Amino acid sequence: MSDFAELSVEGKKYQLPIVVGTEAEKALDINKLRDESGYITIDSGYKNTGATKSAITFLDGEKGILNYRGYSIEDLAAKATFLEVAYLLIYGELPTTEQYAEFEGAIRRHTIVNEGVRTIFEGFPVNSHPMATLSSLVSSLSAFYPDSYEGKDNSDRHIIRLLAKLPTIASWSYKRAMGHPMNYPKNDLDYCSNFLHMMFSLPVEKYEVDPVVASALNTLLILHADHEQNCSTSTVRLVGSSQANLYSSISAGISALWGPLHGGANQEVIEMLEAIKADGGDVSKYIDMAKNAKTTGFRLFGFGHRVYKNFDPRAKIIKKAADEVLAKLGVNDPVLEIAKGLEEAALNDEYFVARKLYPNVDFYSGIIYRALGIPTNMFTVMFAIGRLPGWIAQWKEMRAAKEPIGRPRQIYTGATLREFVPIENR
Ligand code: CMC
Repeated sequence: MSDFAELSVEGKKYQLPIVVGTEAEKALDINKLRDESGYITIDSGYKNTGATKSAITFLDGEKGILNYRGYSIEDLAAKATFLEVAYLLIYGELPTTEQYAEFEGAIRRHTIVNEGVRTIFEGFPVNSHPMATLSSLVSSLSAFYPDSYEGKDNSDRHIIRLLAKLPTIASWSYKRAMGHPMNYPKNDLDYCSNFLHMMFSLPVEKYEVDPVVASALNTLLILHADHEQNCSTSTVRLVGSSQANLYSSISAGISALWGPLHGGANQEVIEMLEAIKADGGDVSKYIDMAKNAKTTGFRLFGFGHRVYKNFDPRAKIIKKAADEVLAKLGVNDPVLEIAKGLEEAALNDEYFVARKLYPNVDFYSGIIYRALGIPTNMFTVMFAIGRLPGWIAQWKEMRAAKEPIGRPRQIYTGATLREFVPIENR
């Protein structure tokens, strides 16, 4: 294969270097295109634009492959702990026993959150969406750790702090909404069990973490841990490229994740399934509405993906896990049957087949979260806890590579130069 592609425009030829990744993905390098030709490229939604080279996650949307640092998601979900995966994403290799003990121990020691953060909660309305409080309070951490923005190189300490404190803050946002006392972390518990303790234990009764619940949570967090250059991760990299500190970059990622087309879809899915159930459970009516999205404005949440055009490997694992978890916990959720019916109807419908629309990771995750006792408006927060190591890894990679500030161009389509008219003459 040639090392260059040739672009011909206005009678002139330009050579664009070809870049090939370790999994044989191909790109045209247009770094010098504007300088040499005066042209830029337009790619709304960045459907064809590679924003960076990255060694963290490989994703093949046609074959349904997702690997973190070369390890398949199937293998990791079955065999690893979430913190092992976090270490792998952030530092590039699975930890040795000693490395894991040090990493996990450091996270255990930093779970407590400054009491000042706790008092900020009091200013929020009780019914605040937990994603609103989460992004605000993660951003507020930079005020508590000013060395994060004063140019001092302490990023690893901030990484540990974020991983340790996010579950604490997340659980407090739930407790605030419930009007219940906030729990402090218990550092003798592992990462997932500690989060469950902070979410569900009450001073008035004994709470014991169910290992089935902790294990299901571990799997869900691993499945969400990274997904290369998606909307929230690109946001984290873009904000971080201005050399904004880690806390504010992650806070921006949390805001991007909240949208219903991204992480917010998991809340939308359950609300949609509930609505179908309340409407008598006729899935075909909703399939028809989705097929006429242009007039109804209705989309099947949990369906479709920008990159996966065959199946989402995470969805396969989650669907199986949903069956297992519900059976182990003895939960009979009628919404699971509606979800299965909807999936079957969509997979056999020409509209969905032609557009390669398959269930994505969010289609079944809400059903498991519900079985674990997590309230619907916390689903996207759970996604954020899972995605945190990926955001951190991508932020760290971008900073280590000294990537330039992100600054896309545009083609201007507004008015051309005109004379100012004083207000009385308009
Ligand atoms: N229901 C019905 N029609 C759909 C759906 C859907 N969920 N998704 C896409 N389409 C149609 C869309 O109307 C368009 O049809 P046409 O060609 O006739 O105009 C075609 O499929 C292509 O859609 P698109 O919007 O151009 O595709 P995209 O790659 O820009 O969007 C998506 C990807 C995930 C935003 C979209 O599929 C969607 O809105 N899905 C529902 C929201 C959702 O579940 N999001 C979670 C994604 S997975 C979690 C994560 O990582 O964020």
